[in-house]
Amino acid sequence: MKVAIIGSGYVGLTTGVCLSFVGHEVTCLDVDPQRVATLRAGAAPFHEPHLGDMLRSVRLRYTTDYAEAIPSAEVIFIAVGTPSRGDGSPNLEYLEAAARSIGEHLGPAYSVVVNKSTVPIGSGNWVESIVRDAFRQKNQGQRPENFAVASNPEFLREGSAIHDSLFPDRVVIGADQQQALERLYSLYRPLLDQSFTPPRFLPRPDGFGAVPLISADLASAELIKYAANAFLALKISYINEIGQLANRVGADVQLVARGMGLDARIGTRFLQAGIGWGGSCFGKDTAALVSTAAEYQLEMPIVQAARKINSRQRELVVERLLGAMKLLKGKTVGLLGLAFKPNTDDLRDAPALDIARKLLERGARVRAHDPVALAAARSLHPDLGVTWCEAAEEVADEADALVLVTDWPDYRELDWAALATRMRHPLILDGRHFLDAARLRALGFQYLAV
Ligand code: NAD
Ligand code: UGA
Repeated sequence: MKVAIIGSGYVGLTTGVCLSFVGHEVTCLDVDPQRVATLRAGAAPFHEPHLGDMLRSVRLRYTTDYAEAIPSAEVIFIAVGTPSRGDGSPNLEYLEAAARSIGEHLGPAYSVVVNKSTVPIGSGNWVESIVRDAFRQKNQGQRPENFAVASNPEFLREGSAIHDSLFPDRVVIGADQQQALERLYSLYRPLLDQSFTPPRFLPRPDGFGAVPLISADLASAELIKYAANAFLALKISYINEIGQLANRVGADVQLVARGMGLDARIGTRFLQAGIGWGGSCFGKDTAALVSTAAEYQLEMPIVQAARKINSRQRELVVERLLGAMKLLKGKTVGLLGLAFKPNTDDLRDAPALDIARKLLERGARVRAHDPVALAAARSLHPDLGVTWCEAAEEVADEADALVLVTDWPDYRELDWAALATRMRHPLILDGRHFLDAARLRALGFQYLAV
């Protein structure tokens, strides 16, 4: 099938390579000429495991030109960003621009325009009206009879995007037209049936079978995405709230999480206590859910509480350090990890940046390292006032405390004995319950957890 994908970010590019891998003819379009040039040169524009391998295994076309991608496409995915505005509502300007450009270039054959971006409930109808109006303006009032708008929310996680797209837990499609649902069903058939041969670098997980398909109306598909993200976010906030109580009563939150999680109704995943969630989606999507509900005069106290607990976790880092060090002014704190999670260089809503700001406000000096996100941090936040360290060991130089912010596996393997000798005071605050506390204590570290 001929597929056009608008937006070559984490979602658009991953979708593009995976659909191409299972046999579709894919054109990826982005307004950023530099990104398109990078892709044409065969390189991945961001750090994502297996993306480079996938780019080398498939044949994609890359363009900045809607006239090249849209007229012949049978399915057109919109995968542009939908970041938060200051008031929590999503900024839909990129979505609107993409929909308008699609309308201006729509061809005569039937096509399905698919919202893959996370968009507020009702966006399907809104996108349809923009595409229709743009088509009419371009075609002297003629009506575009031959298209439908569908929703196909994306559930991939950064750091395992390719794996999640080739071996998804489910595929959700939503449309008010049967023909559109059928087209998406045909498109996804190889993934649903798992009839493709997996790449040698990413074998199919043992026992992985057919993928469930949820076929829904537009509004339900749109709400499934927000409801799923908010639930994952509140699961994390719940364990963090329990963690705070565990700390007061002398309980071990990790044991509590395990004991709870082994109940199949609860599940062990997303119960890792610590600094809390960051990234481009949980914060923005929980804010958007609250904002959408407010438009319908509805409060969402559970989601709001999850958000509040998450921001409190970041404060807690500073409180714990203050409790142990008494004073932050003039002290040096080393941050291990900048990306919002391991295996990505994404810094959107990264807790490390927030924590660095809070420490700097209190007069501390901050040194920071990340195995892949350092260059991005340096170029995106040149005025933050942080000393960027090329090697993890350097964050320990003359440091009064270290904070493990991102659970990169490399950090477990550091020569912690050597790190202790570089520090003024060997204090470590483990923000992810990730390090071997007993070993660190044996090496003379004062070990704290969030
Ligand atoms: P991103 O910022 O990585 O990529 C968006 C891309 O769209 C950019 O390359 C940008 O240049 C391009 N773009 C913007 N306006 C355009 C236009 N008018 N025409 C063509 N290209 C345009 O974003 P992302 O992280 O891939 O997220 C995209 C959407 O998917 C968001 O709604 C997000 O909430 C959702 N989502 C993201 C993830 C994730 O893990 N990142 C997972 C699920 C869903
Ligand atoms: C999340 C969802 O997991 C995806 O299903 C969804 O598609 C995506 O958002 C989206 O809509 O963008 P992502 O943000 O890439 O994916 O990464 P996660 O693995 O969910 O981690 C998010 C944050 O939560 C990270 O900062 C991570 O460190 C934190 N986290 C995760 C915890 O603090 N505890 C946990 O138990 C799990």
